[in-house]
Amino acid sequence: MTQHLTPTAPHDLIGIGFGPSNLALAIALQERAEQGGKAFDALFLERQSDYNWHGNTLVAQSELQISFLKDLVTLRNPSSRFSFVNYLKVHGRLVDFINLGSFYPCRMEYNDYLRWVAMQFAEQSRYGEQVLRVEPVVEAGGRVRHLNVISQNLHGREVSRQARSVIVSTGGTPKVPQAFAGFKDDPRVFHHGRYLSAMATQPCTRGEPMRIAVVGAGQSAAEAFIDLNDSYPNVQVDIILRAGVLKPADDSPFVNEIFGPDYTDLVFNQPETERERLIREYHNTNYSVVDLSLIQRIYGILYRQKVSGINRHGFLCRRMIESASEVDGRVQLQLRDLGTGSTEARCYDAVILATGYERRSHRELLAPLKDYLDDFRVDRDYQLLARPELETPVFIQGFSQQSHGLSDTLLSVLPARSGEIAAALEKRLEGIRQPQSAPEARRAAGLSVSA
Ligand SMILES: Cc1cc2nc3c(=O)[nH]c(=O)nc-3n(C[C@H](O)[C@H](O)[C@H](O)COP(=O)(O)OP(=O)(O)OC[C@H]3O[C@@H](n4cnc5c(N)ncnc54)[C@H](O)[C@@H]3O)c2cc1C
Ligand SMILES: NC(=O)c1ccc[n+]([C@@H]2O[C@H](COP(=O)([O-])OP(=O)(O)OC[C@H]3O[C@@H](n4cnc5c(N)ncnc54)[C@H](OP(=O)(O)O)[C@@H]3O)[C@@H](O)[C@H]2O)c1
Repeated sequence: MTQHLTPTAPHDLIGIGFGPSNLALAIALQERAEQGGKAFDALFLERQSDYNWHGNTLVAQSELQISFLKDLVTLRNPSSRFSFVNYLKVHGRLVDFINLGSFYPCRMEYNDYLRWVAMQFAEQSRYGEQVLRVEPVVEAGGRVRHLNVISQNLHGREVSRQARSVIVSTGGTPKVPQAFAGFKDDPRVFHHGRYLSAMATQPCTRGEPMRIAVVGAGQSAAEAFIDLNDSYPNVQVDIILRAGVLKPADDSPFVNEIFGPDYTDLVFNQPETERERLIREYHNTNYSVVDLSLIQRIYGILYRQKVSGINRHGFLCRRMIESASEVDGRVQLQLRDLGTGSTEARCYDAVILATGYERRSHRELLAPLKDYLDDFRVDRDYQLLARPELETPVFIQGFSQQSHGLSDTLLSVLPARSGEIAAALEKRLEGIRQPQSAPEARRAAGLSVSA
């Protein structure tokens, strides 16, 4: 049964997901309120039971892939108390961090920074709540002035809250190649997004030898390979890629300009074919590429094998996985050599799918609103284009790479984007403001400001 929490006073905004995108928005909204703007009653719902940024991938050697100066806020407001520099100062590590001489903190530290920010918005966030869908509340005459956000808590109970606007910032969904569909929920075959928890149950943690396949040629595949090499001496790894080589991520300075805030306008103002061309041209800044230093480490490991003659790991390039099946308790992969056309079968004790992410969860969550929307296309401020009956602004973050450019799924655009969305939200909610503000109405009804 669904429990309705806010029958009388809807929230101004419900944010779905509390990753870096919505954290940045929480900061931007608070900043505007402190500068005399409207104080919104915003609530953020997060499905994880506590704050974690890609927590299952936080292996020891993993580093942030952009400068710490591109944190949640600095590019918009360098004097914000939510900056990474202030986090360092508060934690007594500012001088030590400077001594490191690096722009790239390890991801464990960045996770701790994000968690520190998230704790400061504890009042406005609820953890352990997976949003299932967003439904329109249709009034007489067909107007929609409120949305029902329906979530499921950790006890399996459905909770319904009303909102005057919604922002979906739910990140990527692990991509699992069709060949592995038969291994759903099999602990031996898992996506890299579950790396640490899935590895914790593997026999190699008890010292047993294992042969593991890592599928993919991106940063995740490279980090898994290095971690398996360093952490499990009894594991032999085959890295299996369709490409001929591991290619470096282009993070050279001119190219990096495409991740600057101004570049979003340039991309957005292009016709669709030109936007697509730009994304193709700079694809190698982000997808199917690896940090050069990591490539050098992997090459070094494989070279030392040649010197010693002990072939622990395999590098299987130009290989297409045609099928995956269970044979004698192991996972057998049928591999086609794209160079020669020949096939071979190889058996593994586990397969790690470092096969990237899809961006589709907004479509699933907002499916009940589909008929009001223009195929999930957005305006420049990330608001979904909609029929006039839908009076509730719906925003998305991280699903607009096609219209706003390659920075859309990354951290670099967060300060600018959250500022733009906060301003747009204020303008649009003001336009349809009700006689009493939501927090006032909630207080009058004897309810807490965030439920
Ligand atoms: C391993 C990894 C490392 C990365 N490193 C970098 C990097 O160094 N630099 C960079 O620029 N980018 C990096 N990225 C890209 C990444 O997309 C961004 O860093 C960033 O996480 C985007 O933030 P987000 O809030 O949009 O999405 P996410 O961080 O994915 O956050 C989405 C949140 O929504 C929650 N959620 C999802 N569905 C629901 C639901 N139905 N109900 C409630 N909550 C839900 C999730 O639990 C999650 O907390 C990395 C990506 C990965 C996978
Ligand atoms: N330290 C960090 O900050 C860190 C760590 C991990 C990830 N990330 C980020 O996370 C994002 C995603 O990186 P990622 O490495 O997870 O994904 P990715 O860059 O999208 O790479 C996915 C890889 O999987 C391969 N692949 C996809 N489908 C396949 C199939 N059916 N069969 C065989 N191979 C398949 C792709 O092959 P093709 O190349 O042939 O298409 C590609 O090599 C990036 O932004 C990355 O920078 C950051």
